[in-house]
Amino acid sequence: MERLKIAVLISGRGSNLQALIDACAQPDFPAAIALVLSNRPDAFGLARARQAGLPTRVIDHKAFADRIAFDAELDTAITGSGARLVCLAGFMRLLTASFVERWRDRMINIHPSLLPAFPGLHTHERAIAAGCRFSGCTVHFVRSEMDAGPIIVQAAVPTHPDDDAERLAARILQAEHRIYPMAVRLIAEGRVHVELVDGAERAVVSGAAAPRATLFNPDA
Ligand code: GRF
Repeated sequence: MERLKIAVLISGRGSNLQALIDACAQPDFPAAIALVLSNRPDAFGLARARQAGLPTRVIDHKAFADRIAFDAELDTAITGSGARLVCLAGFMRLLTASFVERWRDRMINIHPSLLPAFPGLHTHERAIAAGCRFSGCTVHFVRSEMDAGPIIVQAAVPTHPDDDAERLAARILQAEHRIYPMAVRLIAEGRVHVELVDGAERAVVSGAAAPRATLFNPDA
């Protein structure tokens, strides 16, 4: 089996990176991590990568005059690793439009809300403040607008009446760790295509079953 080589870009804790490391350790998983790249030298995810024996690279954005120079270095490192898919996993830098365009439909991101609701930061506080009965997480192709682009996989997670942002984040994180490897697997299997539907882009997943049930919250 030819595995799809991926580069995982991180800035911090790296729990989604860990989920990808664990998935790639399965003999039948159709992707392999070619590079773990961090813009922060102190990112804990780097230790996870080293522990797994993966190639790592730190490209500190502070060492570059501007975003164009930083993104050029990212591109050189990713291309040099042989990666064909870029996975942003808590990577806290905005990317230039030309970098995003170069990796169009070959770069994905995970975001802790049900996009297009709550792009940006503080998603859990905002979902709780809005009284949402569900929040969740999204894996999507990256476009130059922040946290936008064709949706590949989502998981819906119920809010609880006594939730604070920390509790909701922890519940959603468990779902993140399931959907990120799932999205990578679907792409590696060649089952995800971006199509124009009524003038809007949509990621279509082939060979997937429709979800089983409607969720209700509260369960009264
Ligand atoms: C996750 O919540 C992810 O959805 C968001 O940043 C966080 C990264 O967490 N983009 P980790 O570094 O993967 O643990």
